[in-house]
Amino acid sequence: MNDIVARLTDVSRVYPPRAGHAAVHALGPLSLELRRGEFFSVVGPSGCGKSTLLDVLAGLAVPSQGKVEFEGRTVAGVVPDGVGVVFQEDASFPWLTVEDNVAFGLRRLGMEAGETRRRVDFAIGFMGLGDFRRAYPSQLSGGMRQRVCIARTLVLQPRLILLDEPFGALDQQTRLLMGDELLRLWRETSATVLLITHALDEANLLSDRIGVMSARPGRFIDVVETGWPRERDSRLAERPDFGAVTSRLWALLRTESMRAMGQGKEAAE
Ligand SMILES: Nc1ncnc2c1ncn2[C@@H]1O[C@H](COP(=O)(O)OP(=O)(O)O)[C@@H](O)[C@H]1O
Ligand SMILES: [Mg+2]
Repeated sequence: MNDIVARLTDVSRVYPPRAGHAAVHALGPLSLELRRGEFFSVVGPSGCGKSTLLDVLAGLAVPSQGKVEFEGRTVAGVVPDGVGVVFQEDASFPWLTVEDNVAFGLRRLGMEAGETRRRVDFAIGFMGLGDFRRAYPSQLSGGMRQRVCIARTLVLQPRLILLDEPFGALDQQTRLLMGDELLRLWRETSATVLLITHALDEANLLSDRIGVMSARPGRFIDVVETGWPRERDSRLAERPDFGAVTSRLWALLRTESMRAMGQGKEAAE
């Protein structure tokens, strides 16, 4: 169906045993359909398989079982054209300026210089990096560096953007502002977004739907529809019905988080 941009069908992932460690059943089996143009977040206890889910969807990891599709084609082994990934850790190259960082992916694809410049200019302007184009990442704040990483993905004009806790290392105010930026990007590019976050209020604020995962092996225990308008920003948190959604997420997650803590203790023993 055309309005489903990506689909996971009965996907699970088991990390094979290695060097004295038993195999780890990290994920699933789970199924998920991402609707074209939606903002979908994933929340779940630490270690439940969220990053594994993203890796499988991005083609960076192969599922042990089940099927992953993007725009009707099976995803296998490489990041499909049309998919962009942003990670938590600052993945910018310290030896390249902001504009060379942003141009990197396009140059590697062999894109023609004029088109590269046009896209780089757009992404730099869009992410508010105009005054920093010739700066190096070490001269920027954490929030600005993360903007560089988002701009690097934006130049690829992805139709599906996957973000794995991209604001995890930022302070609360910067996080809120970056959330607003991400909403603007989502609205103006019409891309589909899948965001992994451990912050329940962030998931609530940004998303159309939120998948709540169980403790490892992660499966969806519920998918919450927020019903928020497409035009939204961090002021949504002032609405009286905002808190009820965050409370619902926490009610779903509380038991799972305790289970996950128990798993951590077992592993340490
Ligand atoms: N390369 C790996 N080899 C073995 N186990 C792994 C590997 N990567 C992750 N795991 C394990 O798989 C589980 C899920 O990890 P991950 O997907 O990173 O969880 P999350 O992102 O939700 O914190 C964890 O128990 C983790 O220790
Ligand atoms: Mg993770």
